Amino acid sequence: MSSAGFAYLDRRAFEIFRDTIAHLFSMGTRVLTACETLKSAAAEHEDLLGVEGAENVRRACEVVRRAVQTAAITAPPDLWLMRHILGVHQELGLGARLLAGEAIDPQDCRVRVDGEEVLLDAEQLAIDLDFLLARGIVEQYDETFRIAGHPRVAALLEQLNPIPGSHPIPAAMVWAKLFDAQKTLTPEEARALETLGASAPPRRVEVAQNHWIPTLDEVQLGYLLVPVVLGLRAARRTKELREGVALRPGDLSADNKEGARAALNILESAGWVTRVDDARWSVNALGARGFARGPGPFGIIQTYHPYMAQAREILLHGRSNVWVRRGENVGASQDANRKTFRLANDALDRFAADTGFAYDVFIEHAIGRGEATRQRFERSGEDTIRYFGADLEDAAIDAAVLEQQAGRLPKNMEFVRQADIGKPGRLLDALRAAGVSTQGAVMLVGNGFHEARDQTDASMVEIFKEYQDAGIVLLFTEENALSIDDLRATAWNTYHAGFKYVHEKSGQCLRPASPRPTPRLGAPLRAAWSECATRAGYVRMDAYATRTRTIYPYARPGRPNPSISVNHFFVPRALFETLGSGLT
Ligand SMILES: C[S@@+](CC[C@H](N)C(=O)[O-])C[C@H]1O[C@@H](n2cnc3c(N)ncnc32)[C@H](O)[C@@H]1O
Repeated sequence: MSSAGFAYLDRRAFEIFRDTIAHLFSMGTRVLTACETLKSAAAEHEDLLGVEGAENVRRACEVVRRAVQTAAITAPPDLWLMRHILGVHQELGLGARLLAGEAIDPQDCRVRVDGEEVLLDAEQLAIDLDFLLARGIVEQYDETFRIAGHPRVAALLEQLNPIPGSHPIPAAMVWAKLFDAQKTLTPEEARALETLGASAPPRRVEVAQNHWIPTLDEVQLGYLLVPVVLGLRAARRTKELREGVALRPGDLSADNKEGARAALNILESAGWVTRVDDARWSVNALGARGFARGPGPFGIIQTYHPYMAQAREILLHGRSNVWVRRGENVGASQDANRKTFRLANDALDRFAADTGFAYDVFIEHAIGRGEATRQRFERSGEDTIRYFGADLEDAAIDAAVLEQQAGRLPKNMEFVRQADIGKPGRLLDALRAAGVSTQGAVMLVGNGFHEARDQTDASMVEIFKEYQDAGIVLLFTEENALSIDDLRATAWNTYHAGFKYVHEKSGQCLRPASPRPTPRLGAPLRAAWSECATRAGYVRMDAYATRTRTIYPYARPGRPNPSISVNHFFVPRALFETLGSGLT
């Protein structure tokens, strides 16, 4: 058991599970069934195993069950990305060059396009290759990358084709139209969905494997599944898809049964629904879990579809003109971050109760739909607190204004538009203009600091310094940056490989929560969040920071086992000194 009371596996047992037990998609259901069988057998044979032995089997099955359920959510978005990245690399001939044994140097990689030699964008190609390194497709040799030695990789690069031009990117919007009774597909859209449905691979039957690297079919399934699930979410259908719910094509679309069959075909191949007879499917346990928990993480990755749709252009000419539209992302982010905000708001309440700290200004930056404020408003009302919401993008503020009009955000909440979190002046000026003292104001930021683009360690320190000098109490969540070593060792136990990829692609800067040893593979990680904030003068309040689960499901004595995400809690030095130094 871990100190937090979670069951752990032995390291070697996890590695055997990770590498040799196929557990993605429909294979996951087989593993869940095997766990149930094992648990029943252990209970039956308690006389032979002893009470502790039987309990150990039960706990081990519990860890495996969690790992399978995690992979059902984390693998599809990684595979969705991989399908796009490898598809474009094939188009540019990189797959064939890797297969031929060539070393690809991202700093000097030339391809022929329309008879002309073009130098690929070094930064963008390096980001792609780092992702492929994290997923076991290539190996690093000094500054260059070569094909990984496993036969699955060769099969993948030999057989994977560029994405056909007839496939819509993003397909989720077209699926959403199919599932929405108020909307009608154009004939081209209807044909495109049928083509997608027909490209679903058969369910995997081969159980043997000795590596967790995905098969070609698994890559294709991730690519197909993510948009179907997000289409269902956009049409507000995922909530009803609980275990045992029966589905007929007409339930998904009354007008277009062929399109609905295409969706069911993909869901069946992915192992989320089970076919009952020719016209009926039923949501199974894996699917129920996927529909409930998948849309948040899937949506966060899929928001970056402009980078996928223009992946070829970006490699050829850099990413200068591509930008993510946030209107689509704020819902996914709210889904994914609700629990984290609850932990941060709990910590703020505990801090206030423990220290007597009182505040009358609550700011949410990088606001999305204002989930952190909604929770604070629910707890504290608006009689004693003035609320402010800031964001760089109008789409997010517009979404928050709608929430305010619907009564979910306080009436007194004021919005600061075009506020870059990396340029604190705009928010601080707006607060002062509103007659508010920034000293002792509380600012909560959910996954927003990494949005400040292209920051160095030094410039990040300067940003924190402006907030600290203004006296702002800072609570922020950030997903913990993981090294490529960690990503390979944990395989499908996080979706961070993809998360890191899309953030790097768009120039956002993930950091570890606290300093980490220099990794063996890939570039060193950036300076930690805690290091940047403390160098800026902030005092870290460890007792009020909270963490989500760790990435390794086994004990690692003396070695880091980072949490997926951390809620940081920082107090300006001057305030800390007035509150008393026994607090850290
Ligand atoms: C990952 S979402 C998080 C939204 C919200 N905090 C949540 O967790 O639901 C990131 C938010 O940051 C906003 N954003 C992007 N770049 C920003 C920047 N440089 N400064 C402030 N906000 C930014 C986006 O518009 C979006 O609302």
